[in-house]
Amino acid sequence: MESKVSPPANAGAAAELPAVSLAGIDITFHLQGGQRYQAVKKIDLAVAPGEFVSVVGPTGCGKSTLLNAAAGLLTPSAGKVTIFGQPLSGLNRRAGYLFQQDALMPWKTALANVKVALEPMGVSDAQADRQARDWLARVGLRAFVERYPHMLSGGQRKRVALAQMLIRDPEILLMDEPFGPLDAQTRQIMGNLLLDLWSKDRKALIFVTHDLEEAIALSDRVVVMSAGPAAGIVADYKVPLPRPRDIAEIRLEKAFHEIHRDIWTSLRVEVQKAYAMGEGKELVEGAAS
Ligand SMILES: Nc1ncnc2c1ncn2[C@@H]1O[C@H](COP(=O)(O)OP(=O)(O)O)[C@@H](O)[C@H]1O
Ligand SMILES: [Mg+2]
Repeated sequence: MESKVSPPANAGAAAELPAVSLAGIDITFHLQGGQRYQAVKKIDLAVAPGEFVSVVGPTGCGKSTLLNAAAGLLTPSAGKVTIFGQPLSGLNRRAGYLFQQDALMPWKTALANVKVALEPMGVSDAQADRQARDWLARVGLRAFVERYPHMLSGGQRKRVALAQMLIRDPEILLMDEPFGPLDAQTRQIMGNLLLDLWSKDRKALIFVTHDLEEAIALSDRVVVMSAGPAAGIVADYKVPLPRPRDIAEIRLEKAFHEIHRDIWTSLRVEVQKAYAMGEGKELVEGAAS
């Protein structure tokens, strides 16, 4: 696939344009036997440059589908995706993508896995080596560059995947439940690492998670999707918590509990709907209060 997205001609105006704009997005899947399934309907979502937006919603509501539309991995049935004001066609090459399952190559070391990301950019081997070592150090893996993925913990593999994404310096970051498979403590450590890296140059970031606490702790805004089919956005909350944040500590703040209660009021209805429809076998985490 080829991208037709190019930097806007007028750089002054670019600051005003959303990094990602989804407008009137419908996505319908064509199933076997001629059946169709409309996953999302009339989704409008704009993410400003520098903004950290989380998308929460019940399992199966269409979060990954929506992120895939922003990544250019699928073309919506209706609506428009624009990236810094330019219509997206094909793969979104201004974005980096991090999936739940890490996509490291098992036969390559951490260093080689990170260097691979620079291959399409025509960087010399020596320079790629330097940059990859630098990124691995930034994610706390200076001493692990020669390890193969099977010699790394789940959290360490995520660190490699983060370095692999960030080394290309994408203007937009798209993350799909990236810390999902990790244990609770490692998730918090990874959340703090992500905030630390993000705060240095504040890329627009769309973070999909089913964990409401994680969403609040990390984000500037939390968007709630309804249960599918034809899922939409039912609520959009600003997170009025100061930065820098420690994502373990911030959960103890009164303001955190207040915003959690508000968002959970919206989300809970959708989780229950999804559950009733047999979609949501796992309830949303962080929902006990
Ligand atoms: N390629 C596909 N073909 C058919 N149905 C799909 C496809 N991808 C996703 N779906 C359906 O669309 C809905 C939304 O999926 P998804 O975006 O993966 O949900 P989430 O990420 O919120 O858990 C689900 O019901 C899923 O089964
Ligand atoms: Mg998903």
